[in-house]
Amino acid sequence: MLTINVVTLFPEVFEGPLRVSILGRAAERGLVRYRVVQLRDYTHDRHKTVDDSPYGGGAGMVLKPEPFFEAVDSLGAVGPVVLLSARGRRFGHDDAVRFSLGSRLTLLCGHYKDVDQRVADGLATEELSVGDFVLSGGEPAALCVLDAVVRLLPGALGDHESASGDSHYDGLLSPPSYTRPPEYRGLAVPEILRSGDHARIEAWRLAEAERLTRERRPDLWAKRDD
Ligand SMILES: C[S@@+](CC[C@H](N)C(=O)[O-])C[C@H]1O[C@@H](n2cnc3c(N)ncnc32)[C@H](O)[C@@H]1O
Repeated sequence: MLTINVVTLFPEVFEGPLRVSILGRAAERGLVRYRVVQLRDYTHDRHKTVDDSPYGGGAGMVLKPEPFFEAVDSLGAVGPVVLLSARGRRFGHDDAVRFSLGSRLTLLCGHYKDVDQRVADGLATEELSVGDFVLSGGEPAALCVLDAVVRLLPGALGDHESASGDSHYDGLLSPPSYTRPPEYRGLAVPEILRSGDHARIEAWRLAEAERLTRERRPDLWAKRDD
């Protein structure tokens, strides 16, 4: 079973998402266990202070290092410790696969202006970003990582679903999907998908996946040629 720890100032953000759909079902099936801990519980002063003003001056508050270190210490074995950060390396499918093969993963969520750099330097084993934009906190980023990992766990998806046909699984974007009705507002389902000819359908899907990847993601396409 995979244990995913999350250290956050806002545990309530995770309550809904971890209970429903694939993430909730995976926990019910015993494939994953979530432990969401409140950063403030690892402070020692009366006000439960987690932040302070930055050395050198400037606007905004910086999350202090001690609560993060003590929270992680309290979790025991933690596996890879990921600090969600806009200055991190871009999280990708390969990272999701790697984490899904492990038995533990720990996600540290920042907030406010920044997190004291010593968390990145002395506690996290990697710093990951979910994209070239800035979120208000690491919580949505942690949910992205967590979701991408959990859906890869064997048994997390139902029989009718499969991660192997999804974008990025094999380095390609996935082909388009259609369902009934066959025509809607003048937009028709490609005839081939209604032909019942499975070999032709598979060939069409592969050709579409390749076309879309070539057109939209030349970077991925180039990697396939390597
Ligand atoms: C307002 S942001 C801090 C941004 C930081 N001052 C910077 O410019 O890189 C607060 C927290 O949100 C999270 N965060 C923001 N953008 C992110 C991204 N693209 N990927 C992952 N985490 C992000 C990080 O945990 C960060 O500490």
